Amino acid sequence: MTRTDTDPHVPLTDDQLRDAARRFGTPLYAYSAAELDAALARVRVAFGDARVWYAMKANPNLTLLRRLHRAGVGFECVSLGELGRAVHVGAGGDEVIVNGPAKTDEEYALGGQLGATFIVDRVEEAALLPRGSRVLVRVNPGLEVSTHDHLATGAARSKFGVRPLDLPGLLRDLRAGGHTLRGLHLHVGSAVRDAADFSAAFARVAELSAVTGPLEVLDVGGGWGLDADLHGIAARAREAAAAFGARVWVEPGRYLVARSGVLLTRVMGRKTTGRTFTLLDAGMTELLRPMLYGAQHPVRALWHEGAGEGQETRSDLAGPACESGDLLGQDVPLPAGARRGDLLTVLEAGAYGAAMSSNYLTRPRPAEVLWDGQDWVTMRRRESMADIWAAEENPT
Ligand code: LLP
Repeated sequence: MTRTDTDPHVPLTDDQLRDAARRFGTPLYAYSAAELDAALARVRVAFGDARVWYAMKANPNLTLLRRLHRAGVGFECVSLGELGRAVHVGAGGDEVIVNGPAKTDEEYALGGQLGATFIVDRVEEAALLPRGSRVLVRVNPGLEVSTHDHLATGAARSKFGVRPLDLPGLLRDLRAGGHTLRGLHLHVGSAVRDAADFSAAFARVAELSAVTGPLEVLDVGGGWGLDADLHGIAARAREAAAAFGARVWVEPGRYLVARSGVLLTRVMGRKTTGRTFTLLDAGMTELLRPMLYGAQHPVRALWHEGAGEGQETRSDLAGPACESGDLLGQDVPLPAGARRGDLLTVLEAGAYGAAMSSNYLTRPRPAEVLWDGQDWVTMRRRESMADIWAAEENPT
């Protein structure tokens, strides 16, 4: 395949991708700044004056954070490390949300020092917060949503949020602790397929205005699928916020960065056992989502000139790990004739791709590069072996 045009879902041209693979090697994460900017613009158009907080767990790379921060986006942070990143790129207290179901003393202290807004996730937190904190209370709306079980966070059985019946007591405790309740928060899951799930959850939380009275903020979290109708979700969010006289806040992760990033990998060969495999130099260590959630990432073959020619074959896309589940795709139709060294692009990999990569099997994590419109910017150099074992060297 020698197409050099850009499909809507392929953020970089084939020529750019080949160039990146040549210059930086594979496996490689390559991102398009234009695609990132376009995703943010779509969010802003749909949600109007809602405040946008990037859930940096999706991709915490400093280059992306700086770009989003310059565009006026705040950060939702769930660890001391993520808070550190926010501070490092210059975010102030008004630009940071501290979230997490099991916050440490250090996280409370740093959040307090910054004057960040805390998301209270359980009733006991009223006694743990730094005095005079500004808070949102995360509500567990007790709803099942249409996504993989690991990604559902608003169900009654999930560990997140406060039960509505616990809200009145918690609000009293927060007042008694000198804290300021800015609003309520919800986040019912990630990669949620059916927009009706958001409507139901927002409506359920809106009912709690009878308990809270007017509030400054309704934070409706993130979780939107890549094809989600943002205008519909935004309209439902505004309706729910109106019950409190509140402003909408949103916390997208995947939606902002997924489509801007691809994983570039090379074919190492093919083989047939009971099934047919295309073997790649990337797998579960670089992109865990297919293995962990059964996620299906579209792929695009960039085979050598003359390969394919109208013929298609199906194969599983297997990584190099010594694990049978190390698959990036199953029964994937691809043009025939791939040779060792040919390139394959795994799309929609900008969110929870590099962020969840690991050093399992002493594999160095890939480099990350960004096409800024003019040239490639190295966002993260490829790890070296020395990087991997540096923390293990015993000085004695
Ligand atoms: N806000 C809160 C409170 C969250 O917990 C999350 C994601 C987000 C916002 C952003 O959600 P998003 O818009 O990215 O769906 N590793 C999984 C996703 C886990 C998401 C966890 N929380 C994956 O690879 O799909």
